[in-house]
Amino acid sequence: MEKRDMIYEGKAKKVFNTDDPELVIVYYKDDATAFNGAKKGVITGKGVINNQMTNRLMAMLEKDGIPTQYVKELSERETLVKKVDIVPLEVIIRNISAGHFASRYGVEEGIAFESPTIEFSYKCDALDDPLLNAYHAIALKLATREEIEEIKKYAFAINEKLKAFWKECGVILVDFKLEFGKLPDGKIILADEISPDTCRLWDEKTREKLDKDRFRRDMGGVEDAYAEIMRRFMAREV
Ligand code: TMP
Ligand code: ASP
Repeated sequence: MEKRDMIYEGKAKKVFNTDDPELVIVYYKDDATAFNGAKKGVITGKGVINNQMTNRLMAMLEKDGIPTQYVKELSERETLVKKVDIVPLEVIIRNISAGHFASRYGVEEGIAFESPTIEFSYKCDALDDPLLNAYHAIALKLATREEIEEIKKYAFAINEKLKAFWKECGVILVDFKLEFGKLPDGKIILADEISPDTCRLWDEKTREKLDKDRFRRDMGGVEDAYAEIMRRFMAREV
């Protein structure tokens, strides 16, 4: 597999073409942003952790019948993935109140829901990723009704699998963001990453934050939290 030109650079990743038109290489950076790029920094070692965690979780989900973009890990920071058209929706599942759910609805963090919630944001930096519902997404032609139904089904199934996985690591999966992509034949598959950048992960006993909120909220101990969550992840994995 030959790596060719960079075709995209995002806030945390770069994407390169390969000699196979159906495959691209993703490179995970240590760069971190929050609040739509308004806050910038570096979390040393994050790229390696996010790459390896994403790949292992996607391989696990794939085995459980969830189609994903993952093909093969090439190095500590680089992975071969299926080329997709990203559906421009951030799909957020929540099990416990935190972050924007808590601030938007005026409730404290840490309230466990009876059933998980789902919400969508329109992936559009210029508009600051506005929240929208399925009707809006269909009106804007971001996805079809059938695609949204498929995405919802996968997202809730992924939640059940990830919740159970993290529980075994002594970690509560509070909430997380997923992105989906479309293959040339129209099939919807899980894309992007699943990492401490895109999940809220709390220690089960102390409720200590082991994710990117430590960076977003200037709490300190960011690298240590990433290392600790990765340590627990790998201990459970093998
Ligand atoms: P929120 O409470 O800020 O809406 O975040 C919900 C979850 O989504 C949380 O686990 C962090 C993740 N997330 C991203 O991965 N990217 C984003 O741009 C935002 C806003 C949240
Ligand atoms: N999407 C945010 C940003 O672009 C990152 C985050 O809060 O996770 O800066």
